Amino acid sequence: MATMRLLVTGGAGFIGANFVHHVVSEHPDTAVVVLDALTYAGDEASLAPVAGSIEFVQGDVADADLVDSLVARCDAVVHFAAESHNDNSLANPWPFVQTNVIGTYTLLEAVRRHGVRYHHISTDEVYGDLELDDPERFAETTPYNPSSPYSSTKAASDMLVRAWGRSFGVAATISNCSNNYGPYQHVEKFIPRQITNLIDGVRPRLYGQGLNVRDWIHVEDHNRAVWEILMRGRVGETYLIGADGEENNRTVVETLLEVFGRPREDYDLVTDRPGHDLRYAIDSTKLREELGWSPRYSDFATGLADTVAWYRDNEAWWRPRKAATEAKYARTGQ
Ligand code: NAD
Ligand code: DAU
Repeated sequence: MATMRLLVTGGAGFIGANFVHHVVSEHPDTAVVVLDALTYAGDEASLAPVAGSIEFVQGDVADADLVDSLVARCDAVVHFAAESHNDNSLANPWPFVQTNVIGTYTLLEAVRRHGVRYHHISTDEVYGDLELDDPERFAETTPYNPSSPYSSTKAASDMLVRAWGRSFGVAATISNCSNNYGPYQHVEKFIPRQITNLIDGVRPRLYGQGLNVRDWIHVEDHNRAVWEILMRGRVGETYLIGADGEENNRTVVETLLEVFGRPREDYDLVTDRPGHDLRYAIDSTKLREELGWSPRYSDFATGLADTVAWYRDNEAWWRPRKAATEAKYARTGQ
């Protein structure tokens, strides 16, 4: 079988790095090129285990000449690169518009010119939020209703992909996934922040009353779905990725406290996030029925315990970013 040349943007970030690890180990006939700007969220160390098996290019997805030259020598693009953190988007929205919207536009123009297959990584946050007791979950037909600068720029980028598919015939698919957890996630995000706080003997910090619900999925399950969609998904279609993992934030923290052998009430309630989405929940029937995907991590508590073990074993990876991240949170009382 001919080698597929795959451009992975954002491959030094959390999900992108895990995706590159997955492709190198499970699909070794694929030649991977990573394009990543190495922002505060990117770390080449996340690719160290596969460094000899891939090509790494440091650069910006909004750099049209660079993107054109890389897309020209690839068969497919999986676009993970983004500004990804809601709290940062509230403090300074501009990089979100630049990377998420202009960056996606730049890639779309390049894949259009070169006739290259494109898969767009997006989020369930484009659909807004649900009431706690809403019996409906997000599906591919749910109208877009984003709440934050982050989710609105992701929604804008999804719309560009749909338009470039319809108007220019770009061979694109989109996936919208729920909250990921697992190795190599930046310590600004909820689960790694609390795990690394607990390692440091600091109490976990819950926004508001801790009752917001997220639909957790292990990053490996997300990435197996992305590969299936890239290989066997129908061009022009959107697939929602979720693992039926709804939990409220307080329950997640209580589970972590249990793993650390600490009392279940040993956390602090802190300033809420402005505009904080209440609940996300995904119906992934289409993905499961069309492509036969199902999650392997069906027990969240086990996945969480594995993730705690990873952060305990990989302090050298996360420690350099911990103090600056907490200093940023201190400015908003969070
Ligand atoms: P992350 O913040 O951990 O990583 C983002 C990566 O993109 C970093 O390596 C960063 O250096 C790179 N990057 C940022 N701006 C860039 C630019 N202009 N040019 C090139 N590279 C740039 O993010 P993540 O959590 O791994 O998310 C990856 C993708 O998945 C994003 O598109 C995000 O919207 C989407 N997503 C994330 C989740 C989640 O739970 N984390 C869920 C659903 C969808
Ligand atoms: O739903 C998918 C999205 O999930 C992705 O598109 C985003 O890129 C990703 O960051 C994530 O967004 P959230 O805003 O849901 O994730 P975050 O880890 O920031 O927060 C998860 C929940 O935990 C949310 O309700 C806010 C809350 N939280 C967060 C932090 C950092 C706390 O209670 N305390 C905290 O310290």
